[in-house]
Amino acid sequence: MAYPSSQSHVKPRRLSMSKPAMPFSKSQYIIFFPLSFILIISLFMFNASNDELNLSVAQKPKHDSCEGRRIFIYQLPTEFNDRIALDCQNYTFRDWSMCDDVRNDGLGNLMNLDAASDPAAPLLQPSSAWYKTDQFSLEVIFHRRLLTHTCRTEDPAQASMFYLPFYHTLDVSRNLFNPDLTVRDHLTNRFVSWLRQQEPWQLHHGHRHVLTLGRIIWDFYRHPEYEPWGSSLLRQPELGNVTTLLIERCTYGMSVCDNAVAIPYPTNFHPASDAALRSWQTAVRNVKRTRFITFAGSARSGALHNMTGTVRGELFTQCAESPKCKHLLCTQELCADNVQTLYKLYSESVFCLQPAGDSPTRKGIFDTLLSGCIPVVFARNQTVEQYLWHLPGNGSNYSVQLDGETVAFDHYDVMGHLERIPKEEVERLQESIVQLIPRLLIRNHKLEAEYTSKDAIDVAIESLFEWFERGDPQK
Ligand SMILES: *[C@@H]1O[C@H](CO)[C@@H](O)[C@H](O)[C@H]1NC(C)=O
Ligand SMILES: *[C@@H]1O[C@H](CO)[C@@H](O)[C@H](O)[C@H]1NC(C)=O
Ligand SMILES: *[C@@H]1O[C@H](CO)[C@@H](O)[C@H](O)[C@H]1NC(C)=O
Ligand SMILES: *[C@@H]1O[C@H](CO)[C@@H](O)[C@H](O)[C@H]1NC(C)=O
Ligand SMILES: *[C@@H]1O[C@H](CO)[C@@H](O)[C@H](O)[C@H]1NC(C)=O
Ligand SMILES: *[C@@H]1O[C@H](CO)[C@@H](O)[C@H](O)[C@H]1NC(C)=O
Repeated sequence: MAYPSSQSHVKPRRLSMSKPAMPFSKSQYIIFFPLSFILIISLFMFNASNDELNLSVAQKPKHDSCEGRRIFIYQLPTEFNDRIALDCQNYTFRDWSMCDDVRNDGLGNLMNLDAASDPAAPLLQPSSAWYKTDQFSLEVIFHRRLLTHTCRTEDPAQASMFYLPFYHTLDVSRNLFNPDLTVRDHLTNRFVSWLRQQEPWQLHHGHRHVLTLGRIIWDFYRHPEYEPWGSSLLRQPELGNVTTLLIERCTYGMSVCDNAVAIPYPTNFHPASDAALRSWQTAVRNVKRTRFITFAGSARSGALHNMTGTVRGELFTQCAESPKCKHLLCTQELCADNVQTLYKLYSESVFCLQPAGDSPTRKGIFDTLLSGCIPVVFARNQTVEQYLWHLPGNGSNYSVQLDGETVAFDHYDVMGHLERIPKEEVERLQESIVQLIPRLLIRNHKLEAEYTSKDAIDVAIESLFEWFERGDPQK
């Protein structure tokens, strides 16, 4: 396939680290947590026998498969997880609650679409598998899932992976805009002191320890000299050998980047059976794709987001001028709060434009793939350099990659490029995406029936063990 120009893959200067991803929309910060859930959550977190209740039919342990691959989950003081979640009512700078997002083990509330009035309802089936999951909920989802893992052990001497269920993203989200850094770093410092005392951490020098962080890496790597955005967690020497799983990593060859792996953004489909998964794959294969190109995206405003000379700005123009392109100008209400509209749109589209926004990666790329729409991306750091375990290869099996600079500065004709792609190539991409779907989504750990596919969390855990055994994440 012709590319507009060779990938000019210039290593960004280190300085660019100081420019963090800008604050996300308000909806992404709050967590609200009804009191009735407090009890339930604490039961599930600290009572092993209750976890057993969650074990599904399909999940009966095969003991030998756990040999050498047992997982120890630290029982952290509650100030590092439960109490943070409970504090969600205190997110006063938002006008609604993020407590909804922590419900159902981090999957959030069911979408519960009205079959009579919501045009997306017939498509998003079975309705019991579709949730209003928040894109920054990975910490909670990952932790709750691990609690039910068949290879979990409570004896650190048996373990070869050590999981740290610190809900740091939730903590940081409370204080991202707090100029008082002692407040913002309060729990980070306490966590690090706690970690230093732990025997497994001492014994393994922090290796084989895993921490999930629900946001992009720059939110946790505050530079002491530049604009003080984010937390300082990943600057702490104690975290030096700890593996972090995030929705976006960095690719600069620094050790903090080497120890960070990107895993897919949580999307909104969480099937609880093979049947539910297969029926979605069938729907994606059979849906009538009546739109050729879709671009769901918002403008960026303000001095930092001057869109002149950006891929996003150029796509606004090109899409508006092309009868083959449909632009949904996203607002909080249209896109974030009504994500079912997006799934419907993507499911009816052949190509979905996914330019970088505040940072290179987007949840939209995973929504797009889940809907069987071919994502069009504009830099290697949007997918290929990120999701090493989940999106294998160079991207040519699941996406169209164009050179962002050529688009932004030379007005390369994106619409024309997509129209020239042969039909057979489009069909090849579509089928390969349908086959990727199972490993990109997160299943519901409360299964309704047999579930045999590996989901994003299975792939992550398997890959972590392989990494530890081999000693190198990249290979
Ligand atoms: C909310 O914040 C106040 C003041 O910081 C604190 O006293 C209170 O316990 C918090 N509420 C919850 C539910 O944690
Ligand atoms: C990280 O690992 C290296 C090599 O095992 C070790 O020398 C170093 O002390 C470890 N760092 C920490 C903070 O434990
Ligand atoms: C945006 O950037 C372009 C080129 O960099 C510049 O010419 C233009 O004045 C800027 N617009 C605003 C509103 O800052
Ligand atoms: C991602 O890649 C693009 C194009 O190579 C580059 O301009 C941008 O700075 C990179 N962003 C990050 C955060 O690495
Ligand atoms: C694309 O998929 C095919 C079939 O699964 C596989 O053989 C090939 O290695 C993949 N190519 C890349 C570049 O990942
Ligand atoms: C990806 O790999 C395939 C097979 O090796 C190759 O044909 C294709 O040109 C590569 N694409 C990119 C974007 O590197």
